[in-house]
Amino acid sequence: MDRTAKELEENVAQVLGKYQHDRGMLVSVLQDIQAALNYLPEEALEQVSQSLELPVSQVYSVATFFKAFSLQPRGRHLVNVCLGTACHVRGAVKVLEKIERELGIKSGETTQDLRFTLERVNCVGACALGPMVIIDQEYHGEMSTDKVEAMLEKYT
Ligand code: FES
Repeated sequence: MDRTAKELEENVAQVLGKYQHDRGMLVSVLQDIQAALNYLPEEALEQVSQSLELPVSQVYSVATFFKAFSLQPRGRHLVNVCLGTACHVRGAVKVLEKIERELGIKSGETTQDLRFTLERVNCVGACALGPMVIIDQEYHGEMSTDKVEAMLEKYT
C-alpha cells in the first residue's frame, strides 16, 4: 500500500472514529470526508461501507443523492459561469469559452492540478450585473473576455 492510500485510510478511519462507527451518522461521515479530501474516493466509500456494516450500494446511493458530494476529484476553487438569459445576451458564452481556453478544460471538468473546477449555472439573481461569474462565494459581475485572466489569477 503506498503512502497516499495509507493516509487516505487513516483520514477515513479518523472520521469514522469521530462518529463512533454509528451507521445513523452516514451523511455526516460522508460530509466530513468530502470536506477533508474535496471528494469521495471509491476506496473511502468501501471503507465506510465495511466499517458501518452497510451495503456499499447504500453508501453510493447517499453519496450520489446529495449534490454537495462528488465522486470525482474537485478543484480547490469552483468557477460557476452564469448562462441564464440575461447573462447569455450580454456575452456569457464568450466568457465561458475564454475561461475554458485559459484553464484548458471544458465545463464540468477539473484542471489536472486540482486548482479549478468549472461549471455553468442558470441565473444567480444578479442579472443587472451580467455576465456573472461566481468563484467560490465571490461574485464577479460585468465580466468580459479581457478581464478573465486577471480574475483567475487571484485564485491559487
Ligand atoms: S441570468 Fe445571469 S444572473 Fe441572471
